Amino acid sequence: MSSQIDHLLDESRRFAPSAEFAAEAIATKELYHRAQADRVGFWADEARELLTWSKPFTEALDWSNPPFATWFADGELNVAYNCLDRHVEAGNGDRVALLWEGEPGDSRRITYAELTEEVKRVANVLTDLGVGAGDRVAIYLPMIPEAVTAMLAVVRVGAIHSVVFGGFSADSLRARIDDAGAKLVITADGGYRKGKVSALKPAVDMALGDRNGSGVQETVEHVLVVKRGGNDVEWTEGRDLWWHDVVPQASAEHEASGFPAENPLFILYTSGTTGKPKGILHTSGGYLTQTAFTHKNVFDLHPETDVYWCTADIGWITGHSYVVYGPLANGATQVLYEGTPDTPHPGRWWEVVEKYGVTILYTAPTAIRSFMKIGRSVPKKFDLSSLRLLGSVGEPINPEAWIWYRKVIGDDRTPVVDTWWQTETGAIMISALPGITETKPGSAQVALPGIAVDVVDDAGVHVGNGNGGLLVITEPWPSMLRGIWGDPDRYVETYWEKFADKGGYYFAGDGARLDDDGDVWLMGRVDDVMNVSGHRLSTAEIESALVAHEATAEAAVVGASDETTGQAVVAFVIIKESYLSQHTPEGLATHLRVWVGEQIGPIARPRDVYIVGELPKTRSGKIMRRLLRDVAEGREVGDTTTLADTMVMSVISAQVK
Ligand code: PRX
Repeated sequence: MSSQIDHLLDESRRFAPSAEFAAEAIATKELYHRAQADRVGFWADEARELLTWSKPFTEALDWSNPPFATWFADGELNVAYNCLDRHVEAGNGDRVALLWEGEPGDSRRITYAELTEEVKRVANVLTDLGVGAGDRVAIYLPMIPEAVTAMLAVVRVGAIHSVVFGGFSADSLRARIDDAGAKLVITADGGYRKGKVSALKPAVDMALGDRNGSGVQETVEHVLVVKRGGNDVEWTEGRDLWWHDVVPQASAEHEASGFPAENPLFILYTSGTTGKPKGILHTSGGYLTQTAFTHKNVFDLHPETDVYWCTADIGWITGHSYVVYGPLANGATQVLYEGTPDTPHPGRWWEVVEKYGVTILYTAPTAIRSFMKIGRSVPKKFDLSSLRLLGSVGEPINPEAWIWYRKVIGDDRTPVVDTWWQTETGAIMISALPGITETKPGSAQVALPGIAVDVVDDAGVHVGNGNGGLLVITEPWPSMLRGIWGDPDRYVETYWEKFADKGGYYFAGDGARLDDDGDVWLMGRVDDVMNVSGHRLSTAEIESALVAHEATAEAAVVGASDETTGQAVVAFVIIKESYLSQHTPEGLATHLRVWVGEQIGPIARPRDVYIVGELPKTRSGKIMRRLLRDVAEGREVGDTTTLADTMVMSVISAQVK
């Protein structure tokens, strides 16, 4: 870590926006001035300007009961109306909303008028199925236009969606359905991934299958199924409905009613430091204000001419905020791509950029690093001259990847914005503004207008320029999470208790440094959350999957640094004697990797599973993961003096070799 920090602090390259870019830029310095003069008033002005309210609000922020905030609480709006109907009413119905590209090469162009009509039909279907305000709907779909339609239809009727990433297992899906008490599941037979159909419906059937003896009351009444993969599926009469049987028949008339600004919009599960994922709750008015504001200003959106593409899956927060809500609230035209970057060939993404003339690209460092590995000859085969702005999100971007992104993809012309935020923050919090900021490779740099962050020590004291510490958010913001679904205590404990005496510092869980200019450099998580290819995973969750296997006696998981994925999951497992005598360590390791993939989803599959005889523990029995990380990263093992048995690390190191 410290050599990485030294390297970062040596980074002195700077990139000012070009005069042409700055001249046309949407964001100006005036935003910072206005926000500085009156932070809450600034957000109120933005909320009024960016959104259409069916009932105007009179109060912006209520922070009288921290950490429970409300924003624009006496106002009313319909989020789907803001993303759809109002663009049609303004005469932009013919503008393309979605340029959808399927992995096998099929494509669809959907205008705002068409998307609005489809969402109205689905909203009527939902009403017929008894789904209304406050009900929860689980969405488990591939990256197809129906995913966007489904989300907007749910919120149009005032219900709450819980999108579950299509790569999660049946068990993960079941846990999320149960925690939210979903009434309806919207899924597909399957979708395309890496050149073949990957089935989804069977996982839903498994998740809803045999609950006898589980003690869980089934809440799901119906399953609405989109046909995409064409794979065979089982059918439960009375419960399952084909989308194509019910949606085209439904009426295309649907009046969008206004709902209070604090009406829950969605729940999205994310990994924390315990084994159980947290259902992060977002509400309507503040969330839509900040996603629209950031999408417009950070990505310099000119909706009449830009073609925007965010490569995130809708199963993650980036897909929610920067595929669905921000871009559609702003009336953007965007690409939606179903598949993986390298199918059917390694230049697939660049082919999509060329085909649609993408102007703004938003992706993750892990993807950039994997393209670097393949080499510049692949992107150079395509015409990428339409690109004018590049964005990065999900994990720290190392300066070399940043420079490669700018030079090879952006022709050394395009600004690169590194955007820091989280599922919990709902929208971008720290980022350069592309027409204003002189960018620094590897630094997210400055809090956005209206956002207040700091880097503090363990006591909550500002560390000062040139120093490192913990990243905190010091004032409430419109798109902040409103809680953890069903667990207000955990919300307070996880995010607000660490600096409770500061009267409302949000603890983000990230380490950061301030450089001599006061710019922020993110240094990665400081807790037991790993970041693998920009996806959040918890060590505890993977450990509990490992110990759920009958062969496992004990397990410890660490995130080890990895050149491509940022971090990789490495597991150390003690196997029960009875299994050890009957199986080879290699066989057991392979089996456990697959097992974790089945339990949680392929993204959680450990890169390495080491079968060991013991784990390093302190005298009080706490596993010292720091030492295991040293082994996993091939370093000399650090200080072992607090171990109960100081010999244990040399035994483990020998076993791993
Ligand atoms: O550690 C930070 C890292 O991703 C975490 C949030 O993960 P998640 O909720 O899944 O949201 C990812 C997409 C917003 C953060 O706590 N992270 C995100 N963006 C950056 C980042 N780390 C460094 N630089 C970033 N730009």
